[in-house]
Amino acid sequence: MSSPWVDASSLLLLVLPKTAFSPILAVALIAFSVLWFCPGGLAWALSRAHSCTIRGPSGFVLALAGTAAHRVLKRLADTLKASDLMAFSVGFTRFVVASRPETAKEILNSSAFADRPIKESAYELLFHRAMGFAPFGDYWRNLRRISATYLFSPRRIAAFGERRRDIGQQMLADVQDHMAMNGVVEVKKALHFASLNNVMMSVFGKRFDYSKGEGLELEFLVKEGYELLGAFNWADHFPLLGWLDLQGVRKRCRALVKRVNAFVGSIMEEHRKRRVCGDVVAGEGDFVDVLLGMEEEEKLSDADMVAVLWEIIFRGTDTVAILLEWIMARMVLHPDIQSKAQSEIDEIVGVSRSVCDADVASLPYLHAIVKESLRLHPPGPLLSWARLAVHDVHVGDHFIPAGTTAMVNMWAITHDESIWAEPNEFMPERFIREDVSVLGSDLRLAPFGAGRRVCPGKAMGLATVHLWLAQLLQSYKWVPTEGGVDLSECLKMSLEMEKPLVCKAVPRW
Ligand code: HEM
Repeated sequence: MSSPWVDASSLLLLVLPKTAFSPILAVALIAFSVLWFCPGGLAWALSRAHSCTIRGPSGFVLALAGTAAHRVLKRLADTLKASDLMAFSVGFTRFVVASRPETAKEILNSSAFADRPIKESAYELLFHRAMGFAPFGDYWRNLRRISATYLFSPRRIAAFGERRRDIGQQMLADVQDHMAMNGVVEVKKALHFASLNNVMMSVFGKRFDYSKGEGLELEFLVKEGYELLGAFNWADHFPLLGWLDLQGVRKRCRALVKRVNAFVGSIMEEHRKRRVCGDVVAGEGDFVDVLLGMEEEEKLSDADMVAVLWEIIFRGTDTVAILLEWIMARMVLHPDIQSKAQSEIDEIVGVSRSVCDADVASLPYLHAIVKESLRLHPPGPLLSWARLAVHDVHVGDHFIPAGTTAMVNMWAITHDESIWAEPNEFMPERFIREDVSVLGSDLRLAPFGAGRRVCPGKAMGLATVHLWLAQLLQSYKWVPTEGGVDLSECLKMSLEMEKPLVCKAVPRW
């Protein structure tokens, strides 16, 4: 059987002589159609590897511009029997995507994929100087080391437990206010403000009272940054379009950066003044104090500090709120699972005091609920930020040229029925029967990525999700409204609920 691109180019040959096209144009058109219909599409055909063996769709894949890219890519990979590795093109950008744990592991753990491709919006928003997009090298290593020691270390996370609980208590009070005012609660609103305050406290040592209108500027900065980074920008894949900024991404990024500089810059200034007055006790400051106090040879420039701090606020806020919203949607949908988790909390904590960090380790069913939610609703189904091949490399037997963007479809892996029994069912018990780590060692469930660039905030994120879930379940019974729960998804920068969860919170005591 002839391949589709041969059919298409023969068709063109039949049509062209009858038209007024010049021979040069005819040849150009034939060449284009041949390239277009190559497996993996145009960008692969133009690369040195166009004879490569990776299966993939021809032409361009436009799924990344939509809100269900993880599902479309899984469907394509299943159809083309390319779950191990599939090649595709978006404009002039070459992609590969792994939908099996074995190839995912090879990509994420390989030093050849230790860089990230940088989108125009990320560059404009200064993220190339922050940890997530900084090229693999000394600068990036230094940032990872500093944050691992002073922000994400187990000691720091434990020391922050009481504040985390206070912020959780405030969130419970917000839920009560929403119920008193509206008779229902839009869960994400309460979660979002709590998440912002949580990150603000650990990074800036500052907390806002959103009910008094404080923190609105920060909220705008995070929301606008999310939209810009999550938006599909054609200019990233068609370089000529970059000149035109047709979607206005560059313009909006530049306006945002000015406001970020002013916001973060003023907080840094406050910290500097406190240092001059001697108000900072060594070893007790927040992360800004740590960065300002670094030795001369390690010191970051002010612009770099703004980039690093801004990224942490940005990354740390919505992932936690989005994951908890999915978990609460599941709790409303599965009352039996909800009450089992509540019984566990009641048994361990009792009814006379509120749950705290120290209790969390004794709540295995709660942990299983979080794992099962990460499996069914991974906040980064394509692991959010892809990897870039820094040099030519092989994945399995396949040659991948330098400059190829590599993605892992974690959503496809966590919904693969050859790996998970009844993959579409919410069954936390599966993790009671088998203890699977979510931290990156087992690629069947690696929602925080793996390898050198694994999420550095995973322990902090999980500590927050576990404690706040326990607090939410201990205090309220969560029941549906007449509208029920709609589990439709929408992939922006993270995988969000398309229709925010609105439900009722009934006090348990
Ligand atoms: C539920 C919570 C979270 C999820 C699901 C999540 C997920 C991820 C994923 C999938 C990656 C890419 C990993 C890879 O390429 O292998 C990542 C990277 C990153 N995350 Fe998270 N994350 C979460 C919470 C946080 C928090 C709380 C922070 C900080 C406060 C954070 C900061 C970062 C940073 C800085 C990177 C880039 C690391 C690098 O490139 O070196 N994340 N995260």
